[in-house]
Amino acid sequence: MAEQGKIRVLIVDDIAETRDNLEKLLFFEKDIEVVAKASTGREAVALSKQYQPDVVLMDINMPDMDGIAATEAMISQVPTTQVIMMSVQGEQDYLRRSMLAGAREFLIKPISAEDLYNAIRHVYRLRTTQRVAVAASTTETGGDGGGPDHGQIIAVFSPKGGVGTSSIAANLAVTLRQQTNKKVALVDGNLILGDLGVIMNMVSNKTVADLANRIAELDRDLLYDVLATHTTQVKVMLAPPNPQMGELVTSDHLRAILDMMRKEFDYVVVDTPSSFQDRALAILDMADRIAVLMTLEMTCIKNIKLFLEVAELLEYSQEKILLVLNKADSRLGIRVENVEETIRHKVTHQIANAAHEMTLAINQGLPMVIEKRGHQTAKDIAKLAAILSDDQSGASTKKDKDSPSSEPAQANRGGLFSRLIAKR
Ligand SMILES: Nc1ncnc2c1ncn2[C@@H]1O[C@H](COP(=O)(O)OP(=O)(O)OP(=O)(O)O)[C@@H](O)[C@H]1O
Ligand SMILES: [Mg+2]
Repeated sequence: MAEQGKIRVLIVDDIAETRDNLEKLLFFEKDIEVVAKASTGREAVALSKQYQPDVVLMDINMPDMDGIAATEAMISQVPTTQVIMMSVQGEQDYLRRSMLAGAREFLIKPISAEDLYNAIRHVYRLRTTQRVAVAASTTETGGDGGGPDHGQIIAVFSPKGGVGTSSIAANLAVTLRQQTNKKVALVDGNLILGDLGVIMNMVSNKTVADLANRIAELDRDLLYDVLATHTTQVKVMLAPPNPQMGELVTSDHLRAILDMMRKEFDYVVVDTPSSFQDRALAILDMADRIAVLMTLEMTCIKNIKLFLEVAELLEYSQEKILLVLNKADSRLGIRVENVEETIRHKVTHQIANAAHEMTLAINQGLPMVIEKRGHQTAKDIAKLAAILSDDQSGASTKKDKDSPSSEPAQANRGGLFSRLIAKR
């Protein structure tokens, strides 16, 4: 363990030769130690409890319990263990299922020594920051997930990309500030390819990655040091400058950061990635309200239906979800009433289509609600802000977060798949 400064590894593979080869590859690495080897998924789960390894090299195809099921079982019992999945195929579906189960890396056999060392050291670094973040968030919150004096986290989300999440999040934050004059923050939750820097026309040499790096020291001063101030006085947390740095920000970092932000701000608007992976789920779990954006396009409607089903399985309350039709236009051949019938959910609010103005606003780096206040789209965004700021259901959704089946219990779980399985 850390006492000896070595990364403790458990090898899991049903083929003895593969186990031995991996062990040989790791033998001369001074900072890595193989603490146990397992030939089945079940044995691996038992050994992980006994040895508490830092990293598990997990074969995906095994006869009794496959690598995905073993990963889920393992992560629910030893949450800080980092799993590297190994497969002979690089299929997208395998990769997706592994990540949903909570695996951190995916290696395709035959694995080169270099890739193996890099992967082990990379996930071990993630483990270290994850542990610190959990500790930081527990001491900060006392583990209760928030209290009555905290502001609202508003996640702007769509299960389909390109629907307008970033544009609406930016305009909503500015409008909330203008309408209420309260403390408003805007967070770019798209850690890999964040767009808020462009939309708000802001550059900063500090981003969320700087907080993730120093998560154990996270306090008010450090938080404000990283936030950039927009001319509207909205405080903006920008995405890391490149995808590599974005990768290092974990869901635990996000939880700790958002938890601190809701103590400091009345409204924290988060531009949330279109994904069901850990980091997006962490934001959605923590949100008091989720503005779920849709457009009148069949592919989007299909994803919205799926998202609403998932939200129900995750026990998000009805009040938490606000379904918003963006780019609303009566000429698209689909009627809102018919969509509501299909998805069995009311569309709470509509934002008019303004293709030209929105794109121009993005290109000028000036949110549309500043320059084009009188435009129907800006008025619709203002109405949405009014709905969210007048809203009293924050209290009930906070209760939802504090309930035992919700956020705290889920915090250590890896991925959507394992969480839904655990609820069965
Ligand atoms: N109400 C609207 N009317 C017309 N166009 C809009 C509206 N809202 C957003 N758009 C346009 O939709 C496009 C995508 O916007 P944006 O980048 O905000 O979407 P996104 O959902 O964040 O996309 P991504 O999935 O890439 O992050 C942009 O061209 C933007 O101008
Ligand atoms: Mg976006």
